[in-house]
Amino acid sequence: MKAYRLIAGGGIKGLEGFEFKPRTLQAHEVRVRVRAVSLNYRDLMVARGNYLVSSKEPLIPGSDAAGEVTEIGSAVTRFAVGDRVATTFFPQWIDGPPTPEKTAVAPGGNAPGVLTQELTAHEQSLVPVPAHLDFNEAATLTCAGVTAWNALFVEAKLKPGDSVLLLGTGGVSIWGLQLARAAGLQTIITSSSDLKLERAHNLGAHNTINYRTTPEWQHEVLRVTQGLGVNLVVEVGGEQTLQRSVTVTKMAGTIAIVGGVSGFRSDVQPFALIAGARRMSGIYVGSRGMHEDLNRAVDIAGIHPVVDKVFAFAEARAAYAYLEAGQHFGKVVIQTD
Ligand SMILES: NC(=O)c1ccc[n+]([C@@H]2O[C@H](COP(=O)([O-])OP(=O)(O)OC[C@H]3O[C@@H](n4cnc5c(N)ncnc54)[C@H](OP(=O)(O)O)[C@@H]3O)[C@@H](O)[C@H]2O)c1
Repeated sequence: MKAYRLIAGGGIKGLEGFEFKPRTLQAHEVRVRVRAVSLNYRDLMVARGNYLVSSKEPLIPGSDAAGEVTEIGSAVTRFAVGDRVATTFFPQWIDGPPTPEKTAVAPGGNAPGVLTQELTAHEQSLVPVPAHLDFNEAATLTCAGVTAWNALFVEAKLKPGDSVLLLGTGGVSIWGLQLARAAGLQTIITSSSDLKLERAHNLGAHNTINYRTTPEWQHEVLRVTQGLGVNLVVEVGGEQTLQRSVTVTKMAGTIAIVGGVSGFRSDVQPFALIAGARRMSGIYVGSRGMHEDLNRAVDIAGIHPVVDKVFAFAEARAAYAYLEAGQHFGKVVIQTD
């Protein structure tokens, strides 16, 4: 079997393939033939050496995989051979609010990840895959899907008729758009590209704004919300967007602090939060319980997550480079066959 490894900070060029032999399963472990792995901005951060948690040793990267169970340990009860499964982001965060213990292990960050043709995992760290999804689609829920779910429905507790602003057309934002549409929310999305905004419109975005040609996009968000602003901003932009995101959040609304694709420094004025009774809420992906809730919603709503481009296993470096170039809309996937 083949896998990739890299040293945090070694860059994409440090990604190297290697061969390994399957090891014996522990009683509660499951062997999975991985079929697809989806990449996240986080994987670029690990390669660059600026992710939250990183190993000092060469590590198999990646957190999001889907595949089929090929063998189960003697005490496994959750799965049988042949089941289609996906990985969860934090193997130890099953349910309830996060704790340092539950979020201590993060595959692809400080523990072996999923960019491999085969993985062994504790049965508690896997979830079934919705029946209508293929493996490429199923591999996109673990990080981007669960993060968007957590922001919209756990932290912000949005309900039909509420409004959400999504920034850019990457993995988290397009997941947010698809979930928001399914839940009957008003959706506003920004992008640097008119072509991507057209795709977002075709996916059901109510309002689209090009943040390159309209750099003061906060005025447009306020205009289309009759001056009130939105109930939630899924804040993935950081340095170049956060202050504007606060401005366009409705009184008592939420700014879900998810990422910082433009950097992490901020000069947000506390007064803007106080006077608007606005809430900033840090999001750290989510639990297995959230992943299972997302599975159910995806199943009922018949959502097919947007997979922009699929790369072969041998093209893993090209897949990373494609993500880094920011040309994608939705998710980038590597097939492991
Ligand atoms: N806290 C968590 O648990 C968590 C979970 C997942 C992700 N994240 C973070 O969330 C961020 C997004 O992750 P991702 O995997 O969705 O990334 P991604 O798929 O690589 O998407 C990045 C997109 O951001 C957009 N963008 C770039 N600069 C922008 C700007 N100045 N204003 C608005 N949009 C901009 C671009 O969209 P256009 O091409 O349309 O312009 C780009 O395609 C990252 O910082 C990541 O680390 C955090």
